[in-house]
Formats: sequence, structure tokens, C-alpha cells
Amino acid sequence: MLNLGVLASGGGTNLQALIDRSEAGTLAAKVVVVISNNSTAGALERARRHAIPWYHLSRATCGDEASLDAAMCETMQRHGVDLVILAGYMRPVGPGLLHAYPNRVLNIHPALLPKFGGKGMYGIHVHEAVLAAGEKTTGVTVHLVNSEYDRGRILAQRTAPVMPGDTPESLQKRVLAIEHEIYADVINRIAAGEIRL
Ligand code: GRF
Repeated sequence: MLNLGVLASGGGTNLQALIDRSEAGTLAAKVVVVISNNSTAGALERARRHAIPWYHLSRATCGDEASLDAAMCETMQRHGVDLVILAGYMRPVGPGLLHAYPNRVLNIHPALLPKFGGKGMYGIHVHEAVLAAGEKTTGVTVHLVNSEYDRGRILAQRTAPVMPGDTPESLQKRVLAIEHEIYADVINRIAAGEIRL
């Protein structure tokens, strides 16, 4: 059983998918702590509803980047986190956390990296860019996080078709459903030793 520490800034549907699978017994892991930089994140409300310890940690609550990084490390370690799971986390991860969890920080990206990654490529902007480029296929990438944005080792990818008449919103919905499956699959494969970190 792996202990997951989830970082999320937004609504938290990926967090919810992990909680649901854990409660249903289909995930070889448990969300033990949720941290958000955004005090009004839906993800924190989801943690609260499931009685999972949660924290609002940001530059505002911690003072500066180095103190924020240290607080994140301390919180993850105090809760016995094995894997740090970024699920819609809109900030860079600090060097201290990356050092404390080498090859143990995962992110999910709503496109087939290395395409449609990097600065400015988040949320609905990714799907807008995919449509603007006339792609016929998009998808999801789960990758390790390192100090270079969206450039860590790719652990898994799954494709989704782009349909005629798609809007960024319709594409986002199709891709999000795949995100919810693939993140759990990757975590299960890590737990089973099929993916080595
Ligand atoms: C997802 O599309 C994820 O790939 C991206 O941010 C979004 C988060 O969605 N990194 P949610 O908050 O999990 O619903």
C-alpha cells in the first residue's frame, strides 16, 4: 500500500478519482494528505468530505519560496507520504521536495507530451492549442517531475480521438475521463513493481 500526498490547485476531479478507487479497494494506495496553494480549491473540500488531512500552503501562508518548500516537505514526511501526486497543481515544485522525493513526484498532463507542454500549456489552453493545430489525436501523459517543466521521464500515455465539431470543453471532458483511469493505473503498476521509478 502506497501513501499518496496529493497537490492540487483546482476542482480536484483527479484527486476524487483516486479517493474513490482507494475506497472501492481498486487502488493499491491511499491518499493520506492533500495540500493546495489555493484556500478555495475544490480539492480541499473533497479532502474534508473524506476526512483526509488537508493543508493550505502557499507563499502567503509560509512567507517565501524556501519556507513554502520546507513546509511542503515537512508535511509530506510527517504523513508518511511515499509518492507525491500532482493533480492540477498550478505551481512549480520546490527543489527541497524534489530532493526529498527523488523520482517520486508524478504529474498528469492533458496532452501527449512533448507536444502541447511547457509554459502556458495548462487547463483549457492545452485543448485550445490541440484544436488550433488541427490534431486528429490527443491524449494524456503521466510523467515524473523534475526541475524542467513538463520534461520528466514519461511513465504512461493514452490517446483520445479529436472529433469533428469538438470544442475545447468537449475535448477536455473526453480527456479528463481518461486522466481519471490512467493515473490510478500508473499508481497500481508502481505499487506492483511493473513500473520502476
Ligand atoms: C487536469 O486536466 C490535469 O491534467 C491538469 O489539470 C487538470 C486538473 O483537473 N494538470 P482536476 O482539478 O483534477 O479536475
